[in-house]
Amino acid sequence: MEKRLFNFSSGPAVLPVPVLERIRDEMLCLPGCGASVMEISHRSKQFIAIQEAAKQRLIRLLNIPAEYDVLFTQGGSRLQFSMVPMNLLRGQKGPAQYMVAGTWGKYAIGEAKKEGSVEVLYDSSATNFDRFPTDDELKFRSDAAYVHITSNETIQGVQFQRDLVTPTPLVCDSSSDFMYRPIDVSKYGLIYACAQKNAGPAGVTVVIIRKDLLQRSSDSLPGYLNYNNHSKEDSMWNTPPTFAIYVLGLVAEWLENTIGGLAAMHKINIEKARTVYDAMDRHPAMYLGHARKQDRSLMNATFRLPSEELEKAFLSQAQSNNLDSLKGHRSVGGIRASMYNAMPMAGVETLSQLMDEFANKHS
Ligand SMILES: Cc1ncc(COP(=O)(O)O)c(C=O)c1O
Repeated sequence: MEKRLFNFSSGPAVLPVPVLERIRDEMLCLPGCGASVMEISHRSKQFIAIQEAAKQRLIRLLNIPAEYDVLFTQGGSRLQFSMVPMNLLRGQKGPAQYMVAGTWGKYAIGEAKKEGSVEVLYDSSATNFDRFPTDDELKFRSDAAYVHITSNETIQGVQFQRDLVTPTPLVCDSSSDFMYRPIDVSKYGLIYACAQKNAGPAGVTVVIIRKDLLQRSSDSLPGYLNYNNHSKEDSMWNTPPTFAIYVLGLVAEWLENTIGGLAAMHKINIEKARTVYDAMDRHPAMYLGHARKQDRSLMNATFRLPSEELEKAFLSQAQSNNLDSLKGHRSVGGIRASMYNAMPMAGVETLSQLMDEFANKHS
């Protein structure tokens, strides 16, 4: 077998090795099924048990209160950019307030504008999305339909590491930092996250919604786009992405049983990010961070080197050291190290060692 690399991809991204091994072992014959998980009916008792177990694990890991429902949808987080305003903004008096602190927030507001009245709550495009707001920079309306934030901007590497308190339902795109720490779900109206960064493979998007908000969805919405249908039918209004839900459940099981829950995961994530940011800060002439220090993401570290030649040389050296997918997004350039939950400590240690060696050699 070829050697696995340390995979710093921004998504689809690294998965825990024990999860991949389990998938391999159960691929031909899921215990008790005589077939693979991809070959059985979503209405079979075996798959219903798999989906229910995944849901219950998310409820336990995130301590999701009983007033919330957990839905497994398709269409990625991009479809949520449309479903959120279709369900929660249509027919409401006040506008939706959107935080635009990165590329994904910008796309989210773009889709919401097609649905109704939208107001910009915060916009950091003037500084190329290098920061998140402080609490006093946010002026919430009391009549807003909802407030929409992106808790982690994957491309720019900026993140909220606190739960906001808003007077109207808080909707959070948590795609690239889902389950990286414990959160207070009761502060949110709706949380959505595509799985392919921190929680599983592409194909399933988790939506956690406060049940009273389901009343806002109009019956005139196309069936798939109405949260009520997914809620009433327990995410089986149509055929759910069975394989992706199975893997999501295994990742949640790994978080719960191997890692020991989200508080333990958070500690590891802080340590991993510190390892990379300390290496950056040891060589400020070589590594220029994109994010303002206080807004640095624990999930995606973004930095430039003094020239594109040095960036190319760094990426080439990284590849020789088994460090993969470190090239930054074209809108930011430079390097992006995505260190999601499943990135092992050894991966960031190898990266930090390379950063030291490279800076010493080239300065
Ligand atoms: C924060 C954030 N929101 C939304 C998306 C879009 O997700 P999807 O490709 O599943 O639609 C991404 C994906 O990269 C993301 O990082």
